Amino acid sequence: GGEPVRVLVTGAAGQIGYALAPMIARGLMLGPDQPVILHLLEIPPAATALEGVCMELTDAAFPLLQGVVATTDPAVACKDVDIACFIGGFPRKAGMERKDVMSKNVNIYKSIASGIEAHAKPTVKCVVVANPANTNAYILKKYAPKMDKKSITCLTRLDHNRMVGQIAERCKVPNAKVDGVIVWGNHSSTQYPDVNHGTVGSKTIREAINDDAYLNGEFMTTVQKRGAAIIAARKLSSALSAASSVCDHVRNWVVGMEGRKYVSMGVVSDGSYGITEGLVYSFPCVCKGGEWSIVQGLEIDPRSKDLMEATHKELLEEKDLALSCLEE
Ligand code: NAI
Repeated sequence: GGEPVRVLVTGAAGQIGYALAPMIARGLMLGPDQPVILHLLEIPPAATALEGVCMELTDAAFPLLQGVVATTDPAVACKDVDIACFIGGFPRKAGMERKDVMSKNVNIYKSIASGIEAHAKPTVKCVVVANPANTNAYILKKYAPKMDKKSITCLTRLDHNRMVGQIAERCKVPNAKVDGVIVWGNHSSTQYPDVNHGTVGSKTIREAINDDAYLNGEFMTTVQKRGAAIIAARKLSSALSAASSVCDHVRNWVVGMEGRKYVSMGVVSDGSYGITEGLVYSFPCVCKGGEWSIVQGLEIDPRSKDLMEATHKELLEEKDLALSCLEE
């Protein structure tokens, strides 16, 4: 019971938005007892599709859903929200250069930054899903300078969950037996899916799998290229797994860790593990009382250090490209 929590979803008529809205309304993001009000933002070309989503939300008669604010006005959408899920963006289309997609997306995040800073609750917690997720989150932070740096994150939990799924399948154990995996760096193919600190039941992942060639090779590429494999099979990008991972990210951050050792989150670096301060980089985190912190003191072997550095370098380059797109 209690006061409803206001949750913003941008790009709400898109694939992930369509999967995510009912999950939030079912209590998968904030728990089975927490009433919610959904704030759904779209751009004018998708306004009619958004009306259709609203009709379905009405028709599903979710007991926890106490209201829907559907709009194409960012100020209205951001008003008094407690949680903000930024999914709105432009996909890369045939013939588009990387820089063109980057430019469209980072400019969306530059413009929404002032809206969220001005209109959301001061305690708002943000997760950026739209790609380039880490760099969009960096831009959001840069153009919302009054917001707490710790309130802006990006989603790498899908990659984390993909690691758990692959290991559980390989070991033929339930997903809940796998813990302590880490995604370092960018939500891109340079990410480093690190199993060195993870466990399967009472064993380490390396003991349980007993095949380092697989863990250092095929396992990593499967996780890194999973998004492309899903597009190839479905002709659409991952949506249900992305939406479910957004719920996990926010729930573990805001509600509690549910016994997990750590979770991977793209957060603003404080310089931990040698990562440039201010960059949005995926780290192993623990959350308590609605605050995340980066797990300190993990032993990093030379191979891991190189992999962490490669994705760090890509993020520095992405940041510079993004900033050059804004200046134009
Ligand atoms: P989609 O194209 O189906 O939906 C995106 C929606 O955003 C569209 O309905 C569009 O009208 C809307 N939109 C565009 N500009 C907007 C703006 N300025 N304000 C509000 N809404 C706006 O795409 P889908 O499949 O839902 O994916 C969304 C994003 O999430 C993409 O950038 C995708 O690459 C990314 N993604 C990230 C993942 C992650 O793990 N971080 C995983 C999967 C997808």
